Amino acid sequence: NYQPTPDDKFSFGLWTVGWLGRDPFGEATRTPLDPVEAVQRLAELGAYGITFHDDDLIPFGTPHAERQAHVKRFRQALDSTGMTVPMATTNLFSHPVFKDGAFTANDRDVRRYALRKTMRNIDLAAELGARTYVAWGGREGAESGAAKDVRAALDRMKEAFDFLAQYVTEQGYDLRFAIEPKPNEPRGDILLPTVGHALAFIDRLERPELFGVNPEVGHEQMAGLNFPHGIAQAMWSGKLIHLDLNGQSGIKYDQDLRFGAGDLRAAFWTVDLLESGGYEGPRHFDFKPPRTEDYDGVWASAAGCMRNYLVLRERAAAFRADPAVQEALRAARLDQLARPTLGPGETPAQLLADTTAFEEFDVDAAAQRGMAFERLDQLAMDHLLRA
Ligand code: GCO
Ligand code: MN
Ligand code: MN
Ligand code: MN
Repeated sequence: NYQPTPDDKFSFGLWTVGWLGRDPFGEATRTPLDPVEAVQRLAELGAYGITFHDDDLIPFGTPHAERQAHVKRFRQALDSTGMTVPMATTNLFSHPVFKDGAFTANDRDVRRYALRKTMRNIDLAAELGARTYVAWGGREGAESGAAKDVRAALDRMKEAFDFLAQYVTEQGYDLRFAIEPKPNEPRGDILLPTVGHALAFIDRLERPELFGVNPEVGHEQMAGLNFPHGIAQAMWSGKLIHLDLNGQSGIKYDQDLRFGAGDLRAAFWTVDLLESGGYEGPRHFDFKPPRTEDYDGVWASAAGCMRNYLVLRERAAAFRADPAVQEALRAARLDQLARPTLGPGETPAQLLADTTAFEEFDVDAAAQRGMAFERLDQLAMDHLLRA
């Protein structure tokens, strides 16, 4: 059965089920959702966690005296349902002050304000027990060339993250940052556009151990990239600490469809990789229930994200357990790929001395050997479709 339980570690952004349907061409189609109701409904559906931007929970501009009332109601809902807050993040993109970005805005006052806004919500994230702090630089970018000195902007981005890591360390918070790449939208081009860019950036920070990535399915696919390959490299780097699951159909605007919609085969390989690759973080959904839906449709869409994950988990497990698949994997020489190319401690001189590797190697015979990938992939297809 496909009934989710808290052990499945499914979490949802407050801004996902709470999206009112406002888009660049039309007004909201739904009325506001009380965060308390979001917690209760998601708990009933079988989720274990809820995540938020500061402004999702405490509307922007709320006077200081009223902040605690919002937090208190939310905390009560968490306590009464057993829901957790695995992650929190900052809204550094909605208010017009962030029109040119936040940590990399040309306007220095805006950058200092962005740091303060983030520090304030990091405090709340720690208070609510979050272990991951997502940083999506939605407006860190440009529409035109001279407007942004990208190298200077990356200096400012590094400055911001080094500073925030210092803050988290000084406060003693058990919190790591997860940088979320996206190639474009809302800016024409966004800095750190892909998982690869983010991984390279993290290496240049002062405390790289406090950083990982938060790849989103649709964002990599907007750039035409292979999502499972991207998260595989993040896992290989020890940097996959969180992720945003959703659906996307090809290279177009950020669709944020429910998980499993869009590229179903990429979703299958994603679940296969997460489940077989030892990923232990939350299975977090960052989707937008289409604006055609009323709240019944919103909850159906949220339930669908989890159901599709569980169906794909079952399909992927069946694929891996099938003896025919195991044989096909051997035929495709996956076992050889797992084996080091060189012998233990083999030196360049030793490889040069191995005439079977070159002088006697039958290049043409090796070129003739089929890789048997099509049979393997059809087995995957059969399992996915339950044929
Ligand atoms: C997007 C992004 C956002 C971020 C979220 C966290 O769809 O462009 O995914 O939804 O994940 O705002 O800051
Ligand atoms: Mn998105
Ligand atoms: Mn989104
Ligand atoms: Mn996201």
